[in-house]
Amino acid sequence: MTLRIVVLPGDGIGPEVTDEAVRVLEWFVRRRAVPLAMERRLFGAAAWAEQRTTMPDATWDAIMAADALLFGATGSLDQKHIPPEERRKGSLLRMRKALDVFANLRPVKAQPALAEASPYKARTIAGADLVFVRELTAGVYFGTPRGIQTLPDGTRWGLNTHAYTEAEIARVARFAFTLARTRRNHVTSVDKANVMEAGALWREVVTAVHAREFADVALEHMLADNCALQLGRAPTRFDVIVTDNLFGDILSDCAGAINGSLGMLPSAALSDPDPAGRRRALYEPIHGSAPDIAGMGVANPLGAILSAAMLLRWTAKAPAEADRLEAAVGSALASGARTADIAVHGEPVLTTRAMTDAVLAALDASLPEG
Ligand code: NAD
Ligand code: IPM
Ligand code: MN
Repeated sequence: MTLRIVVLPGDGIGPEVTDEAVRVLEWFVRRRAVPLAMERRLFGAAAWAEQRTTMPDATWDAIMAADALLFGATGSLDQKHIPPEERRKGSLLRMRKALDVFANLRPVKAQPALAEASPYKARTIAGADLVFVRELTAGVYFGTPRGIQTLPDGTRWGLNTHAYTEAEIARVARFAFTLARTRRNHVTSVDKANVMEAGALWREVVTAVHAREFADVALEHMLADNCALQLGRAPTRFDVIVTDNLFGDILSDCAGAINGSLGMLPSAALSDPDPAGRRRALYEPIHGSAPDIAGMGVANPLGAILSAAMLLRWTAKAPAEADRLEAAVGSALASGARTADIAVHGEPVLTTRAMTDAVLAALDASLPEG
């Protein structure tokens, strides 16, 4: 059965990098018979400009019916003219919540070819291979009450609520422990149990789920501020890091420094499987719309392309093809292919498209007929 992949390019560099990820997926359709059909849909600021809605009904229906979404980026500077209600309607947060994709996998692997692009010493990052399991559909991003309110004395205050139920913590913990069993069997749970009640409950529930169901997996707890330090000081000590929505957002960007650029990092947001074993899935690079370089054709497409590799692994269930794509990215980098964000030694700087051409050439070379 052909899998329906809804492509949501979005704002800024979103369309530039998503086009390249689609070109790569089309290579897998053509050359490896992976059964995917990609369809592009408008949402957000681009949809507003054309149709005066940020979420056309056709887009929402396609999102809900899709086997997976391939998302570019959201965030344009000129959204002030869009009414707040409309902005929420077309928001990434609404999609994540509606799809219930609570487990956000953000893998970070040190690319040997990029050691010089990293601000860290080569020996510090060599072999780093970790994955965040970021809780994505609860916590302070969604907690209520929230809003900007005016007190009786006229003072305005901004209010958000950091809240987790036991069930929300337990399911993401189970995801992390299960994933760890397929890796190096080690989980670091990151919270601020010393300051926040939601953090104390997080630690309690993770500990209980571990003791009850996953005692074979090594578990450590770490405070989030220390984790920010350890990601730079000793990233090889981590295997799976499970953490809440906000810490996961910030700490995964911190880990982007390992390869020198946010443009390198992919992600997959997954739901629990339905009875037929299918997960809802949203794949996206972790970077944003990068307004400073949008429209220039110079953005690094590798975060989007590696997100496509995650789609091959999790949605197409083609792990050998996912490995092939990850290896092709490694070979393109090893051959010296660099976009501006990861170029440090005066290597010729490639455009977004030319970087993808280098990956496609490596894919061609991976086939027996060359
Ligand atoms: P950003 O990720 O857009 O950019 C941060 C820095 O990294 C910029 O200097 C940018 O040029 C660089 N960068 C990012 N991706 C790159 C790539 N692929 N290649 C080369 N360089 C790259 O973060 P920001 O500037 O803090 O936010 C800009 C907008 O993006 C905001 O509106 C924000 O809300 C939004 N945002 C969206 C997402 C998402 O869609 N998932 C994620 C983060 C930020
Ligand atoms: C990310 C982004 C988003 C987040 C924003 C755009 C809502 O930073 O996907 O990392 O904070 O989750
Ligand atoms: Mn982020």
